[in-house]
Amino acid sequence: MKKGRKIVEDKFDLHSLNKFASLMAMGNGYLGLRAAHEEDYAGQTRGLYIAGIYNKATVNETSELVNLPDISGFKIEINGDTFSLLNGKIHSYTRELILATGEVKREILWEIKGLRFQIVFQRFVSKENLHLLASKVTITSLDNDAVLKIVTGIDAQQTNFGKQHLIEEKVRIYNEKIMQGVYQTTESSHRISLAAACTFQGETDVNFSAKNRQLLTSIKHEIKKNQPFIIEKAGALFTSLDQGVNDPEKDAFQLIEETLLDGYDTLLEKSAFKWQEFWHKKRVSIVSENEFDQTAMDFALYHMEIMTPAHDQRFSVGAKGLTGEGYKGHVFWDTEIFIAPFHLFTEPKTAKKLLTYRYLHLQQAKEKAQLNGYEGALFPWESAFSGEEETPEFAAINIRTGIRQKVASAIAEHHIVADIAFAVVQYFENTKDEDFMKKEGLSLLKETSRFWLSRAVEEDGQFSIKDVIGPDEYTEHIDNNAYTNYMAYFNVKQTLFFMGKYGDQDGELIERGNDFLNRLYLPVPNKEGIIPQDDTFLNKPEIDLAKYKEKQGSQAILLDYSRQEVNEMQILKQADTVMLLYLFPDLFPADIVAKNLHYYEKHTIHDSSLSKAIHAIVAARCGDMEAAYRFFQEACLIDLGPNPHSSDEGIHAASLGSVWLAGVFGFANVILKNNTLSINPKLPADWSKMSFPFYCRGSRLEILLTPNQVAVTLISGPALTVEINGNEYLVNEEIEVNL
Ligand code: BGC
Repeated sequence: MKKGRKIVEDKFDLHSLNKFASLMAMGNGYLGLRAAHEEDYAGQTRGLYIAGIYNKATVNETSELVNLPDISGFKIEINGDTFSLLNGKIHSYTRELILATGEVKREILWEIKGLRFQIVFQRFVSKENLHLLASKVTITSLDNDAVLKIVTGIDAQQTNFGKQHLIEEKVRIYNEKIMQGVYQTTESSHRISLAAACTFQGETDVNFSAKNRQLLTSIKHEIKKNQPFIIEKAGALFTSLDQGVNDPEKDAFQLIEETLLDGYDTLLEKSAFKWQEFWHKKRVSIVSENEFDQTAMDFALYHMEIMTPAHDQRFSVGAKGLTGEGYKGHVFWDTEIFIAPFHLFTEPKTAKKLLTYRYLHLQQAKEKAQLNGYEGALFPWESAFSGEEETPEFAAINIRTGIRQKVASAIAEHHIVADIAFAVVQYFENTKDEDFMKKEGLSLLKETSRFWLSRAVEEDGQFSIKDVIGPDEYTEHIDNNAYTNYMAYFNVKQTLFFMGKYGDQDGELIERGNDFLNRLYLPVPNKEGIIPQDDTFLNKPEIDLAKYKEKQGSQAILLDYSRQEVNEMQILKQADTVMLLYLFPDLFPADIVAKNLHYYEKHTIHDSSLSKAIHAIVAARCGDMEAAYRFFQEACLIDLGPNPHSSDEGIHAASLGSVWLAGVFGFANVILKNNTLSINPKLPADWSKMSFPFYCRGSRLEILLTPNQVAVTLISGPALTVEINGNEYLVNEEIEVNL
C-alpha cells in the first residue's frame, strides 16, 4: 500500500474508508480536509476543519473542532445510475496521496450495465494560498455516448458525529456561477464563509438549488464516447478569526472570482512548488533495505507540515492535527514534547509560535491553578481556542452499569506544566532568542515554577509531589512519579538560572525555589538498578502482558480488568520512566538506562501511540539496535499498518512527530548539550545512509551519515563546533569524519 513518496491504496475497501480519509488528508496548517471519497458511503466521515475554529454544542460540553460544510462531495449519475463502488464492477482502482505535491488522485475503471467508464478524481488543499482548495473530476465513457449528471456544492449537513455547530446565516448564488454560504458557530460566534464554483467545457445544463442546508449546483451533460468530460471546482474559506481579514464573506467571494481564471492544473502547480520547497528544506533521506522506512518518514513530515498552524500563534496542534475529530481537536503535551522539536530544529520560528500559544493563555492557566488551590500556572491537560481546561469530565460509559468513568487527567496529569517549561528551555538552547526568553519565556518559567512550589507537600523535611498521573495513564493517583518530579525539578532549576541571568530579583521565588530544589524527593535507582516509577509501583503485582501487547493500541486490557485493577498492577500504557530517560540522556549511567528500558518495556503495553518511537530512541542510545529498529518500525505502522480502523478519527500527530525524533535523536543520535552539538550515530543495520537538515543556533546544517562516516555541511549561518564520537570539530564549510 505504500510506495516511494506516495501513499497508495490499490483496492477499494469499505472497512478502511475512514482510515484512508485520515491518512490521505490534505491541508496547510490553516485548514485540513479529510480524503473522504467524493461519493457518499454509509459510515464515511467527511471532514473539513480550520485551525482555531472550535465550538461547544451545549454549555456543559467541551469545545470541539468544528466539522465545516463540505465542498468535496460529488454525486455522479451516469445514464441514471448513481456512481458508487458498491454498484457495478470495478476493473481497476488506485488512490494515491502524492506527498511530493500534496495531491490526492484516484483512478477507477468502472463498469455499469455493460458500459465502462474511466473516472479520475483529483484534489488538493493549496499550500500557496491557505484559504484555497480545488478538485477536478474527469469522466470518460469508453463504450458509448452517455448522459451525465453531476451534483456538487456546499453541504452544511455535516456534523461532529451528530452535533451541529453552525447556524446558516446566508446562502447565495452570484452570477449564476459562484455559490456562497456564510455560517456562524453557535457558541463561540465565529463567522465562516465558504465560496465555491465549478468550471467545465461543452454544452451543459446547469441548475442551482438551496434546500436543507445544501447549496447545490447540478450539471447535466451528454458525453461522447472517448471524449473526456472535465469538471473543476475551486473552494475558498475565510473566517472572522483570520488575522487581517475584516470581511470573510467578501474575501471568500473575491478569491473564488480570481481563482476561476486559473485552472486546476495551474493552482496545483503553484501549490506543488511550495511543497517542493518544503521537501528541499526539510526532508530526511534514508537509504534502507526497507523502502517503507523512507515512506514512513516522508509521511510523518507531510503530516507535521499540514497539522501545524504556522501562520498564527493563537492556535496549536491538535492530537489528530486537522485530519479528524478524535480528542475533539484538543491540544495536549503532544505538541511541546513530540511535535515542536521537529520545528525547532528545522524552522524555529514555528516552534516559537507554538510556545507563544501557551504564553497567550497564561492567564487561563493561572485561573485553573487558583481554582484548584495552587499558585502560578496550571496549564490545562487539554486545550482549544480559549486556553481553558477542555478535558471532558467523563470518559466512555460502561453500558452495563450506566456509570461513566471520570477522566482524572485534568485534575492530576500535571506534568504538562513542566513539559511546557522544558520546551521553553529547549527553544532557548537552540535559538538563544534572548528577546523571547526575557519576556514570554521567563514569564512561562516563573509561573510554572510557582505552580510546582505550591504543588509540592512537605513530609519529614522533604518535598513530595503527591496524587499525580505521570505520562503512563494506566497508573493514576500516585505519589512522586519519577518523570513528574525530575521534570518539576528541571522546571524550577532553569527558572532560577534564567532569573539570575536576567537579573530578576523576585526574592521570594528565589528563596522558595532553592528550598524546593534542595529538598524535592528525586527517586534514585533501587539496589537492582530500577528507578521507581512512583512510590508504590514496584510493590505492585505483575502479570503476563503478552496477550495485550499483541493487541497494543486497542486498550484490550480494559476489557479484562477494570481501570482500578489495572492501576493496582505493574502495567504501563506508555513510556513513563523511559520518557524521562529520553529527555535527559545523561541523568543516569548507561547501565542504569539499559536496565530501566528493559524493565519498564516488559511492563508496557504501548496502548498509547506516544510510546513506541520513544523506546526506539532510548534503545538506540543503549546500542540495542535490533530492538530500536523494531520499535521504530512498529511506530511507523501505527498509522500506516494493516489495522483498518487505526486512524478512523484522525492520524496520530504525536506518534508522527516521534518518528522524526527517532530518526534524528535516536538513530542519528544528535544531542544538544551544554554548548555543543554531538552526533554519535547508531544507524540500524538495514540503513546504509541517512541525511537530514538540522538547524542549530543560527546555523543551518546538512548532516549525512553512513555506517562509517559522518559528514556535516554548513549551509548557512556561523561556523559551529560539533562533537563526533568524543572529538570536537569546527564546521565552517564541510567536515567528514570517519568512524
Ligand atoms: C495518551 C496521552 C496523549 C493523548 C493524546 C493519550 O492516549 O495517553 O499521553 O497526550 O492520548 O494524544
